[in-house]
Amino acid sequence: MSRFPKALNEQIAYEFAASQQYVAIAVYYDGQTLPQLAAHFYRQAVEERNHAMMMVQYLLDSDDPVAIPGVEAPTTSFTNVVTPVALALEQERRVTAQIADLVKLAREEGDLVGEQFLHWFLQEQREEVSSMSALLAVVTRARKNVMLVEEYLARESGGEEPLEAGAPPAAGGAL
Ligand SMILES: [Fe+2]
Ligand SMILES: [Fe+2]
Repeated sequence: MSRFPKALNEQIAYEFAASQQYVAIAVYYDGQTLPQLAAHFYRQAVEERNHAMMMVQYLLDSDDPVAIPGVEAPTTSFTNVVTPVALALEQERRVTAQIADLVKLAREEGDLVGEQFLHWFLQEQREEVSSMSALLAVVTRARKNVMLVEEYLARESGGEEPLEAGAPPAAGGAL
């Protein structure tokens, strides 16, 4: 297998791991009876799963080997309501760096089709880092009264995400 499809297979594991981490965060908030925060992270988990399946579809389309990976166990216990969001932001920043490295690799390999496939993911990362930074600011400011965060999310969520229109196809269909 050449380097780009191999690296993209590795990224599938990171996307599934991100999904699993968001499920863990959602369950933590659900256990704290914070339904808006829980719903937010349940949705993020589905998005990350879709990212993985978009990469699976790309590899299927390009006739490259694709293997569904096992993933690293997520962090499941948190000391307060702020730390899960801080962890999530750290994760999004890490994924942004990973996607940027994939773009560089595709470029090095002269794989312009692969590079173009990743452009949507670069946009998506910019959006996710930005919205997670905003949520971290809100949760940090309202840590003593988390119900304000719940109200914020109830107000802000629900808008259709503009990026979804141009998203690459996901294997089996996006959820
Ligand atoms: Fe992702
Ligand atoms: Fe993400």
